[in-house]
Amino acid sequence: MRGVNDAPNDTLQDVLRRQYSRRQLLKNAALAAPGVILSGRLLAASDAYAAQQAKAASGHPADLGFEPISLTKVDDVIVPEGYGYQVVLRWGDPLLPGAPEFDAHQQSKHSQETQFGYNCDFTGYFPLPGFHSNNPNAAVLAVNHEYTDPILMFPDYIAGAPTQSQVDAEIAAHGMSFAEIRRTKGNKWRYVKGSANNRRVTGETVCAITGPATGHPWMITSEDPQGRWVRGTLNNCAGGKTPWGTVLTCEENFNQYFANRSKLPEGPVKAAHTRYGLTSGATSRRWENFYSRFDLAKEPNEPFRFGWVVEIDPYDPTFMPRKRTALGRFKHEGATTVVAKDGRVVVYSGDDERFDYIYKFVTARAFDPKKRQANFDLLDEGTLYVAKFHDDGSGSWLPLVHGYGPVTSANGFNNQGDVVINTRRAADLLGATKMDRPEDIEANPVTGKIYSLMTNNTSRTAAQVNAANPRPNNIYGHVIEQTEANDDHTSTWFTWQIFIKCGDPAVAAHDTYFAGYNPEEVSPISSPDNLVFDEGGNCWIATDGLQNGLPRGNDGIFATPVEGEQRGYLRQFMSCPMEAEICGPEFNTDYTTLFAAIQHPGEGSKSTAPADLLSVWPDGGTPKPSVIAVTKTVPGNPRIGS
Ligand code: FEO
Ligand code: CA
Ligand code: CA
Ligand code: CA
Repeated sequence: MRGVNDAPNDTLQDVLRRQYSRRQLLKNAALAAPGVILSGRLLAASDAYAAQQAKAASGHPADLGFEPISLTKVDDVIVPEGYGYQVVLRWGDPLLPGAPEFDAHQQSKHSQETQFGYNCDFTGYFPLPGFHSNNPNAAVLAVNHEYTDPILMFPDYIAGAPTQSQVDAEIAAHGMSFAEIRRTKGNKWRYVKGSANNRRVTGETVCAITGPATGHPWMITSEDPQGRWVRGTLNNCAGGKTPWGTVLTCEENFNQYFANRSKLPEGPVKAAHTRYGLTSGATSRRWENFYSRFDLAKEPNEPFRFGWVVEIDPYDPTFMPRKRTALGRFKHEGATTVVAKDGRVVVYSGDDERFDYIYKFVTARAFDPKKRQANFDLLDEGTLYVAKFHDDGSGSWLPLVHGYGPVTSANGFNNQGDVVINTRRAADLLGATKMDRPEDIEANPVTGKIYSLMTNNTSRTAAQVNAANPRPNNIYGHVIEQTEANDDHTSTWFTWQIFIKCGDPAVAAHDTYFAGYNPEEVSPISSPDNLVFDEGGNCWIATDGLQNGLPRGNDGIFATPVEGEQRGYLRQFMSCPMEAEICGPEFNTDYTTLFAAIQHPGEGSKSTAPADLLSVWPDGGTPKPSVIAVTKTVPGNPRIGS
């Protein structure tokens, strides 16, 4: 499938037409003092940063101490010698008081809106009793639910002809779960059924619209004549944590829920829906058969109310989710926060589409570590930028601000609401660099460098390569390392380099690169999707679709140091069940547990009949998307990777 970005920007010629010289960039960088970097996963104070720096300086624990596993097609979670895994939360686990036990034949709106949802992706560890407690043994685990595989959910599902009850259960299986988890004796993690901390957010939960798109004419529907609230959040893929202890969950492939674009009259609304890849006829799920909001012929504006970053307080089950429109509307993969040296908060986010872009948002005001609530509207005001990668290793962040450059009334942008709703088109006009499907983007809490995962792009031709997306027919994906100028995350300049070109290093035709490390010692990898850093700043990468490039393996987690002699020494740490991807790698606060979401095991099975199942993980029957906890099995509960 080709991408939907036909904007004529940033061909190779455009990349060559650089706006700024590398010399100027380096001069700017040389004038600056080193900055202070704080990640959203830290406690929020410079003390935490100092502690990280001290650990990094002491060399801890750059040397990752596990024996790598190999690619495998085993239908289970495989981890290195000395490690084990537990399933902590399964699809259908009862979460809320009164929730029924899972029963494949008795699914309903009620069962799913009280149970753990389907296709878990992001996992966020929010320590109890509060974000700053740093408790490694108890937390609210925030887990989002990207989408549904109804053929694997319902034993009697008929593709193209769902019942309303099935559709209602599917809508309720989307969104997010908040589950209290506790570590008990024997290093076992359990969720707490019926805890007052548990919550489900679904495709029906009322969300507030905040920021520049609030009340915009394109946000108005027959149900919401003021454009101020939305029914539900859909296709939540990755996410992030803020320094004030809220979760950011990201609406990604929302285009697939809305039918009948072809029935719209020609004009700006249809053009916007085309640029965002909305379905021209019927959707595969057929929700439009029962609810007019999923039918563009009846509600042409409803899709404008999706594709946002949604902020939720995991410590308050009554909190109304807020769609933060200042961060732009696109297929957000994740949203990673960093506190810059002046206290403003920077959010990095990729648009997961072939030939789409990398963005960052810089808040107008500074983070206040002392007053949690004072930060709750920080993400409503600030500047959105899109990245342009110059082929000399420099880059610029171009502001998506109404009135800047071509983003003006002459091109249909009359206010900032227009810009954030139609972010992709504004970025097209600015000439952003078309990337190979940007998935997760994360800041290394030790070095401050930014790592962006380009998962793959088999549509890129030889004529379309640029230095930041150097391979045509990019089956395997790559990792880009960025350094913000002056070590300041609010900077509008950066330098960058390719960190890893994925593939099998034993196959010359794959044209791999592992930061210069000896290719004979690294593990083959493909389709990087999510990443997380451990306390030593080592990078842990989870993949999605590895088997497309490397058919002898299932998706996995791979770890590599990013600094020192072992920079680029990538080794496979985990392999997942058949037809699944691994998402949301997340450490607890003492780094002794690695949580991960096993999403869509057995996807592609023709039915739930045992003979048709491509996976029977985790229980030997219908596969269930689940969150696992990986720990070491040796006494003393040592850190993962130590
Ligand atoms: Fe849902 Fe970009 O992966
Ligand atoms: Ca993803
Ligand atoms: Ca992540
Ligand atoms: Ca993916």
